[in-house]
Amino acid sequence: MIAKLERNDPCWCGSGKKYKVCHSNTDERINRYRQIGCVVPPRKILKSAEQIQGIRESGKVNIKVLDYIAEQIHIGMSTEDINTLVNHKMKELGGIPATLGFEGYPKSVCTSINGEVCHGIPSDKVILKDGDIINVDVTTIFNGYFADSSRMFCLGAVSDERKQLVEAAKKAIDIGLEQAKSWNFLGDIGQAIDDFTRSKGYSVVREIGGHGIGIEFHEEPYVSYVSQKGTEMLLVPGMVFTIEPMINMGKADVVLNEENGWTISTKDGKDSAQWEVTVLITESGYEILAY
Ligand code: MF3
Ligand code: CO
Ligand code: CO
Repeated sequence: MIAKLERNDPCWCGSGKKYKVCHSNTDERINRYRQIGCVVPPRKILKSAEQIQGIRESGKVNIKVLDYIAEQIHIGMSTEDINTLVNHKMKELGGIPATLGFEGYPKSVCTSINGEVCHGIPSDKVILKDGDIINVDVTTIFNGYFADSSRMFCLGAVSDERKQLVEAAKKAIDIGLEQAKSWNFLGDIGQAIDDFTRSKGYSVVREIGGHGIGIEFHEEPYVSYVSQKGTEMLLVPGMVFTIEPMINMGKADVVLNEENGWTISTKDGKDSAQWEVTVLITESGYEILAY
């Protein structure tokens, strides 16, 4: 049993403010949604101002590492070279690459080329070629806080078909962000992305989604892109999660590489593209913490 929080008590979030001027109104509003059967966020995933600042700083490191890769990436280098660059830059900035050793993952970054959907493992045998498209996905731990984002890079003379896929995957993030505001639902983001993707003749990967992030690598909620408007978790200020839809040129179906246990590719072998953003839900909308 716990005592009811009184209006003049310090708020549960650790802000030091009185409950009545801090989370009291938000809690009441969340409760009304809960009462009508909506999925609402547990308190533990609502970040305090201090935690948000920590994730923001981590996001800055993640952005710097990706900016550095954008400068350095070129035809003829291996994906292992990208791994080395990420590892060194991350350390120089005082961060730790979150993927290294994560559930046994062996590298500091994921590098997924062409028909690879995600979790491509850097290798000195994979050389970037003219016309390739590649996703570079970096996750930082800085001062204990996590931030996760990824970008696509086009190498040399990329076909119009591939360029359009890469652009559509980027646009899908903007479409999702338009729905990223308090008192919307995660399903609003999911459906908007799915509708947009279909309108372009592409498909969204169904089995893999985004995730809450900040205190851990993968937290609640799971962020699907094949969900319906008005369903899934209610969006509330202080939630931090990724939007990272994987957009396929052909069919949505994917296969896992059984040999390495990580890499996911399209089943039909056609290309796939993905961008990833770490986003904070605020009172008035959202703030991008890493991109
Ligand atoms: N960064 C990926 C994501 O967006 C997760 C990579 S986990 C790894 O969620 F182990 F494959 F690196
Ligand atoms: Co992620
Ligand atoms: Co990522």
